[in-house]
Amino acid sequence: MAKSKFEYVRLFEADDRCLPNTWIVVRVDGKGFHKFSTEHEYEKPNDIKALSLMNRAATSVMEEFKDVCLAYGQSDEYSFVFRKETQAYSRRSAKLSTNVCSLFTSAFVYYWNEYFPTGKPRYPPVFDGRTVLYPSNQNIRDYLSWRQADCHINNLYNTTFWALILKGGLTPAEAENKLKGTLSGDKNEILFSQFGVNYNTEPEMLRKGTVLVRRKVPVALPNGGIREKSQIVQEYVDIIGDEFWNTNSHLLTVT
Ligand code: GTP
Ligand code: MG
Repeated sequence: MAKSKFEYVRLFEADDRCLPNTWIVVRVDGKGFHKFSTEHEYEKPNDIKALSLMNRAATSVMEEFKDVCLAYGQSDEYSFVFRKETQAYSRRSAKLSTNVCSLFTSAFVYYWNEYFPTGKPRYPPVFDGRTVLYPSNQNIRDYLSWRQADCHINNLYNTTFWALILKGGLTPAEAENKLKGTLSGDKNEILFSQFGVNYNTEPEMLRKGTVLVRRKVPVALPNGGIREKSQIVQEYVDIIGDEFWNTNSHLLTVT
């Protein structure tokens, strides 16, 4: 069929294919979730319902995008790691980030009332999305370590900050002042000596964030037998040290 004279405008579309043989990470992050969490009365410092909804939305992304081998989430963000050799959308960066971000956002709204009894959010939540490439296994491990260290630092701070306010009766400004210049040991000490809280026994999902991976899980068959089925499971584990990567070496291996 003859092409229209307008066809040439297609040439203005830039080729944004990701470099071959590199880890592709798509990270989504809630826009203005400081406000969104307040408007929806998220519990402070952590709302298990909200974090579980994030995990549900991320599971939807992994169900759809089979080349995501691992996802990591904390607070209002989730990172999706695509296999190094993925050919999804011919590795086109915008296709990957927009599809992941769009599905994550719609799943967040779709499953909202399974976690919040309010029926629907008060206004439509927004997530941004970006694609970042990491060439080496060390780089992708360092990326995930960076996000988990961020989770740890923020969660220790927020746990102490809100204990000082909710249990200690300080104003937010007083709590902020008290924490200025403190190291993690100081915050642990405040939590323990003033509020009897041993930070190390706080729920692991809050201290470590959530890792989503595929695992073979035994499922019961109607005839009484058992079959192994691949399922997306949530784990609240350390991904900074070597142990997780030694026991899950397949995740970093090109297949
Ligand atoms: P942009 O991402 O730049 O749009 O800003 P943001 O307001 O989303 O802040 P950011 O992504 O840096 O941080 C996420 C914010 O979400 C936190 O600062 C909290 O205010 C809020 N948040 C995330 N998870 C929870 C939670 O479980 N409970 C409460 N109370 N707030 C949360
Ligand atoms: Mg945000």
